[in-house]
Amino acid sequence: MRLSQCHNFHDFRRLAQKRLPAPIFNYIDGAADDEIAYARNTAVFDDVDLVPHVLRGTEDIDLSVEIMGQKLALPFYCSPTALQRLFHHEGERAVAAAAAKYGTMFGVSSLGTTSLEELRRAYDTPQVYQFYFHRDRGLNKAMMERAKAAGVDVMMLTVDSITGGNRERDKRTGFSIPFRLTLGGMVQFAMKPMWGINYVTHEKFALPQLDDHVDMGGALSIGRYFTEMLDPTMTWDDLAEMVEEWGGKFCLKGVIHPEDAERAAELGCDAVILSNHGGRQLDGSRAPFDALGGIVDRVGDRLDVIMDSGVQRGTHIVKALAMGAKAVGIGRGYLFPLAAAGQPGVERMLGLLKDEVERDMRLMGASQVSELTRDMLHDRR
Ligand code: FNR
Ligand code: LAC
Repeated sequence: MRLSQCHNFHDFRRLAQKRLPAPIFNYIDGAADDEIAYARNTAVFDDVDLVPHVLRGTEDIDLSVEIMGQKLALPFYCSPTALQRLFHHEGERAVAAAAAKYGTMFGVSSLGTTSLEELRRAYDTPQVYQFYFHRDRGLNKAMMERAKAAGVDVMMLTVDSITGGNRERDKRTGFSIPFRLTLGGMVQFAMKPMWGINYVTHEKFALPQLDDHVDMGGALSIGRYFTEMLDPTMTWDDLAEMVEEWGGKFCLKGVIHPEDAERAAELGCDAVILSNHGGRQLDGSRAPFDALGGIVDRVGDRLDVIMDSGVQRGTHIVKALAMGAKAVGIGRGYLFPLAAAGQPGVERMLGLLKDEVERDMRLMGASQVSELTRDMLHDRR
């Protein structure tokens, strides 16, 4: 299977599975507990039908949107994700370059493997810095100051991960950094020697956002990072303080409850991202697309309501936009292409999704994103 044979999410996923050692593939592909939220996130889109308008004379399609004061050429963006250099040696650079090529936004994770400064300097496209709130308040302050100095446009605080999700696939393989694999996990690595050669012949793995501050003394498992370093006692007061201290565009990622969206609006957030972290944290938590309409009705006039989780298709994006989302985030949807083929992989996937959204909007009779409205959906839920 080659890149040119990848036409959708599932094709990229298959190619990524071929290229990656199984522990890494399962880290990306896996989710919490029984992975019910993960499945529902995508299935929910099938509960809502598109109701197209015809004969609207749609010629040029404008896909651009504005969120948090940032102009995006596409109504979807690459949501921040951790550890990208494990998935492909080009890592964040590949994702940033592809996002810049398409004029859309990308996120840099606190657990990113390329420094936010380098990414801000090298790629001229909207960038968000994804922040985890640590127990060490000094570390939080230092990280925010560093982001400010780097010229980061938007601060994105993720609040659905105050402890690690129960990722049973990772337990089975022993996935952690540096690798502390189970015997089965080691065998799986040995089966993908090309990945190993690329990994050891490129720049050494690092977590530059955290480098000066973190000494985990051995294996930093994602579970341990969440449990030992992040602050589960964080409250709305801490958020208020952080919003004020940052002083720029700020969004809250991982909101599902309408009351929380309301509080975010009251505290001056510029956006909320409805997300259940791709089903990786609390299994059985409501799918963002299920929560979207209610939250748009409640706070949509006060801040940008954005969603991620489960998005694999142009029609998923079109449904979310018609429901009232201002933009849509993609996670695994660009990570599998990254793992499959690096920058050309991510570019191909963004291009395919762009073509799909453009075609779907034409077929819906909408020449601008704002012309996708809720009357063009039939909700069977
Ligand atoms: C993530 N996500 C994530 N979110 C975040 O705020 N900080 C992070 O470091 C990460 N890391 C991460 C790693 C991997 C491998 C995945 C799959 C996801 C969550 C991500 O930003 C987004 O919310 C989900 O991926 C959206 O769901 P889909 O599109 O993957 O279904
Ligand atoms: C994850 C983290 C890093 O989902 O957000 O694995």
